[in-house]
Amino acid sequence: MSRVLVTGGAGFIGSNLAEALLDRGDDVRVLDNFSTGSRANLVALGRDVEVVEGDLRSYERVHTAVRGVEVVFHQGALGSVPRSVQDPLTPTAVNVEGTLNVLLAARDEGIRRIVFASSSSVYGNVGRMPLSEDQAPNPISPYGVAKLAAERFCVSFHHVYGLETVALRYFNVFGPRQDPSSQYAAVIPRFIRTIDGGGTITIDGDGEQSKDFTYVENVVRANLLAADAAAAVGRVLNVAMGGTESVNALAETIGRLLDKEVVHVHGPERPGDVRLSCADVTAARDVIGFEPTVGLEEGLRLTIESLLEEAT
Ligand SMILES: NC(=O)c1ccc[n+]([C@@H]2O[C@H](COP(=O)([O-])OP(=O)(O)OC[C@H]3O[C@@H](n4cnc5c(N)ncnc54)[C@H](O)[C@@H]3O)[C@@H](O)[C@H]2O)c1
Repeated sequence: MSRVLVTGGAGFIGSNLAEALLDRGDDVRVLDNFSTGSRANLVALGRDVEVVEGDLRSYERVHTAVRGVEVVFHQGALGSVPRSVQDPLTPTAVNVEGTLNVLLAARDEGIRRIVFASSSSVYGNVGRMPLSEDQAPNPISPYGVAKLAAERFCVSFHHVYGLETVALRYFNVFGPRQDPSSQYAAVIPRFIRTIDGGGTITIDGDGEQSKDFTYVENVVRANLLAADAAAAVGRVLNVAMGGTESVNALAETIGRLLDKEVVHVHGPERPGDVRLSCADVTAARDVIGFEPTVGLEEGLRLTIESLLEEAT
């Protein structure tokens, strides 16, 4: 058993990770300011979690949260490409300065390892698929630029201070507790909620943009592996299913699983969005023994079940 910190633990991925850490007997502390996450996500865990309420932009709050833990899973961030297009400043402060605060506090407290949630958005519109870590990043959204800066700080802190850091580039994660209702809601919970309610979904652009949609349990497992694998130190690794699905096909699959007709309109393309994204997960397999074990359709089924249960 060890004591661990999950920043952003009241959010979608953070709360799923906290649940897995509790299941294996860890003492879990969460740092969150509840801006996009919720207390309900922590209550849903049904177990004791120590909460440090605070902002990642405050070194003092981050330092308090980091004290005495063995591993930091740094999930806290202001996500969403559209949010960063509307307001590049606030997400960049949280995602870059917040990560620096985590790294500095971890250095100052002699924390064993930091696992950082990076993003496939660092690649931008790179031509060669599948995307592997040896391709030069070319982010096009402010969010992608900030995530790239943050992951480079992780690598830098490994080199200059000997800190054990690992950055995981998540690709379009979905699953239980992902918020379906915010202005910046991700496509899967939004489609499930709308199709189930008999509403009309809006597909951005022609809907042929394709993503590597990744079920959250796979991402959680990658974090657990990355916290311990010796070879992972100082590395940046893709974490994804290693496949790709268009938004049009996704909507059809969700309709079929819900047994509902899909009524849709097309909206404008999202600025900053990437057209095609599909990960090569060979490095994660070799370095941390990662295998995506829950497939897209099974993941969608589990997500639908949980979202509909939440709604009742
Ligand atoms: N969901 C995805 O598809 C995806 C893809 C790639 C990377 N990521 C990364 O994974 C991580 C988790 O994302 P998520 O989808 O669970 O998002 P989320 O919004 O559900 O969770 C983020 C959490 O961070 C907290 N937070 C935000 N700003 C904060 C601040 N200033 N101080 C303290 N806490 C703050 C929020 O309250 C929330 O609980 C993020 O770093 C995100 O960038 C997510």
